[in-house]
Amino acid sequence: MKRLVIVSNRVPVPTEGLRPGGLVVVLKDLLARQGGMWFGWNGVCHPDAAHLPPEIQESGGVEYATIGLTPAEHRNYYTGFSNSTLWPLMHSLPECIHFERRELASYWSVNERFCENLLPLLRPDDIIWIHDYHLLPLAALLRRHGVRQPIGFFLHTPFPAPDMLATAPDGGTFLRDLLKADLLGFQTADDTANFIFAASRKAGARVVDEETLVFEGHKVRVGTFPVEIAPQHFAATAAAAMDTEDLHRLSGSLAGRRLIFGVDRMDPTKGLDHRLAGYERLLETYPARQRHVTFLQIAAESRTDVASYQALRNRLEHQIGKLNAHCGQADWTPLRFLTRGSPRATVAGYMRLADIGYITPLRDGMNLVAKEFIAAQDPENPGVLVLSRLAGAAKQLDAALLVNPLDHDDMADALERALAMSLTERRERWQACWNAIANRTALGWGLSFLNILQATTDR
Ligand code: G6P
Repeated sequence: MKRLVIVSNRVPVPTEGLRPGGLVVVLKDLLARQGGMWFGWNGVCHPDAAHLPPEIQESGGVEYATIGLTPAEHRNYYTGFSNSTLWPLMHSLPECIHFERRELASYWSVNERFCENLLPLLRPDDIIWIHDYHLLPLAALLRRHGVRQPIGFFLHTPFPAPDMLATAPDGGTFLRDLLKADLLGFQTADDTANFIFAASRKAGARVVDEETLVFEGHKVRVGTFPVEIAPQHFAATAAAAMDTEDLHRLSGSLAGRRLIFGVDRMDPTKGLDHRLAGYERLLETYPARQRHVTFLQIAAESRTDVASYQALRNRLEHQIGKLNAHCGQADWTPLRFLTRGSPRATVAGYMRLADIGYITPLRDGMNLVAKEFIAAQDPENPGVLVLSRLAGAAKQLDAALLVNPLDHDDMADALERALAMSLTERRERWQACWNAIANRTALGWGLSFLNILQATTDR
C-alpha cells in the first residue's frame, strides 16, 4: 500500500493542543486512521530555522516532519503574502488585500524550502497530498525536482471568480503551477467551475470535459470534494459534554434565557461585525426578545500580526462595548464575547445547549462549524441553524435558515423566526440537515480524494 504524505503549512505537532481551524481538524482524523507522514510548519519561529533540518516525531502511527520559519519568513510568507494577500483574495474581499513584492518573494522562497526539505523524505511509493493556499507553487516545484509520484492538491478556501484573480500578482503563474498536480480538489461546484474557467482563459489549459484539463501535455483531473466532519462522533461528544461542570455553569448562568451561539476564529471573513449588528437589530426590531436571549460568541484569536485582523479586533471591541451598553439592562448582558478558545468537547456541548447556531461568514470555503452544530443537536429538541448563504456548507445545509451576512434585517428576521419556530418545523429542518451530513465522514472525504488521485495516476 502506498504511504500517504500530507503537506500543509500548519502541522499540529503531537505535543501541542489542537488549534482552531478546519484544515488540521479534518486531516488529523484522516491521518490517525490511515497512517503516513505529515510535513509542514511546526508553528515555531526561530532565527536559525532556515538552516535546521526537519524535526521528525512519531505519534499514533503518524510521522510528523516539521520545519520552523525564521521571523522574516513568518512576517513575509505567513503574515504577509499568505494571509494578507492570498487569504482575502481567495475570499473575494479586495478591501482587505495588502500586497508587497518582497512578501511574494518570500512566499516563493519558503515554498522552495518546503520542497528542498521534503524531497529527501519522499519514497518512490508515496502519494503526496498538498493542502491550501500557502502552497500553490509546491506541486510544480516538486515536479521540477523530478518527483514522479502522484500529487494531489486541495484548496480549503473558496476559489474566486475570474475577475478577482486579476488582483493576484502572478495569478497566471499560480494557475500553471497548480496544473502540475494530477488531481485538484475544491469545496463546491462553483469553486471548481471558477478554477476551470480561469485555467482555460488565463493559463491556456484545454478543457476536455468538466473534470479533465490538459496542460502542456499533462492530464489534470479536477473535482468537487466538500469537506466533512465525523458526525456520529461529534454527536456523541456533544451529548457526553452535557453532564460536565462547564455546561452546568453555562446553563445555570442563562437563568432560563434562550441561547444564541457562534464560534469562529477572529477573522475578517467570518462576518463578526455584521453578525453583532444583526443581533442588535433583532433586539431593536423585536423588543419582546430583550432580556430573554443571550448571545454567546467565541472568536478565538488568530493571525494577530495581520493588520486587517488587528483592525477587526479594535472595531469589535468598540462594537461589543456599545452593544452591551446601549441594549443591556441592570440584570441582563445581551452579548458575551470571548476571544479565548475553548476545548472542542466543551464547544460541542455549548452547541447542543444552544437554541440557535448563528454562523454568518461573508464567505467561507466550507465552514465545518455549521456541520458540527447540526451534529451536536438533540434530535428530540433540536436548535435552529442560521447560516450565511455564502458558506460552502450552505449548499448541503439548505434546510437551515439561510441569510445574507451583510443584511442586518435579514439576520434579525431569521433569528426571530428561529426563536419562534415550532418544534415540528425545528425537527423537520434539523432532520433534513442531518440527512445531508450523517452518512459522510472526514475519513470518507479523504479516501474519496485519494482513490481518485490513485486512479488518475495508475495509467
Ligand atoms: C483555515 C485555513 C487553514 C488554516 C486554518 C487556521 O482553515 O484553510 O489552512 O490552517 O484556517 O489558520 P492558521 O493561520 O492558524 O493556520
